Amino acid sequence: MSTPRIAFIGAGNMAASLIGGLRAQGVEADRISASDPGAATRERVSAEHGIVTFEDNAAAVAQAQVVVLAVKPQAMKAVCEELRPALREDQLIVSIAAGITCGSLQAWLGDRPVVRCMPNTPALVRRGASGLYANPLVTAEQKAAAEQLLNAVGMALWLDSEAQLDAVTAVSGSGPAYFFLLIEAMTQAGEALGLSRETAARLTLQTALGAAEMAMGSDVDAAELRRRVTSPAGTTEAAIKTFQAGGFEALVKTALDAAAHRSAELAEQLGR
Ligand SMILES: NC(=O)c1ccc[n+]([C@@H]2O[C@H](COP(=O)([O-])OP(=O)(O)OC[C@H]3O[C@@H](n4cnc5c(N)ncnc54)[C@H](OP(=O)(O)O)[C@@H]3O)[C@@H](O)[C@H]2O)c1
Repeated sequence: MSTPRIAFIGAGNMAASLIGGLRAQGVEADRISASDPGAATRERVSAEHGIVTFEDNAAAVAQAQVVVLAVKPQAMKAVCEELRPALREDQLIVSIAAGITCGSLQAWLGDRPVVRCMPNTPALVRRGASGLYANPLVTAEQKAAAEQLLNAVGMALWLDSEAQLDAVTAVSGSGPAYFFLLIEAMTQAGEALGLSRETAARLTLQTALGAAEMAMGSDVDAAELRRRVTSPAGTTEAAIKTFQAGGFEALVKTALDAAAHRSAELAEQLGR
């Protein structure tokens, strides 16, 4: 399958990462276009990736087979309503906006193939994790194109139902911040134990990276990896028992429930 022509509406952080990822995968610059109201943003993305840019959204989508909506959720309704007359029926719409449902997109754009994605910030360093949901009008070829787009900045997984995007938001969408919080807390605790801040921070970060890489490369789950490094009556067990006595697992569950609930609430507000 040859790479389809892709137009990005909005050329901010996430669009620039996706364009950079596609270019790094060998996608030719002439397959990609972008539009953005900011002259400096257009110049930056064009200079960095060699792609053509437009001030006018309609001009950017004219040659495209895939249209990526990469504006802020609050701008989405106005962007879609303005773009609608310029779109063709065979174009795939990919939305990366948090909380904008396929129902809202179809209300603003008409019935057409739509893939809704929830990427996360590590996409900026090509280590992203995205959940994807396709409406029934999306063809197998279009699904492959959406998958290639999100895989260019990390890993992409298909979901069975759109409602699962709230769970994806709770797990991977907001997830980087949970790890940042743990990194912060471990660094502070290491400092309190007598390490310099820099040493505590560097040891914590390298440990987070090492643990993630070990778990990624392993054929057993995280619970088994944890058991293997927890000797009876040892130091790790002393810490793990303290975490568990403080209700760690229940707290994580309550936190993710709160994120999923908020995601559904925001989708309800943004869709109006
Ligand atoms: N960043 C993330 O990690 C992340 C993660 C998951 C999902 N997302 C989603 O990705 C989308 C983009 O996020 P971002 O972080 O890339 O935001 P961003 O950097 O603000 O990019 C959005 C761009 O769209 C431009 N824009 C505004 N109105 C426009 C219009 N009418 N037509 C065309 N372009 C327009 C903005 O220009 P101005 O600045 O001049 O307004 C800006 O350059 C959001 O919907 C967000 O929910 C982002």
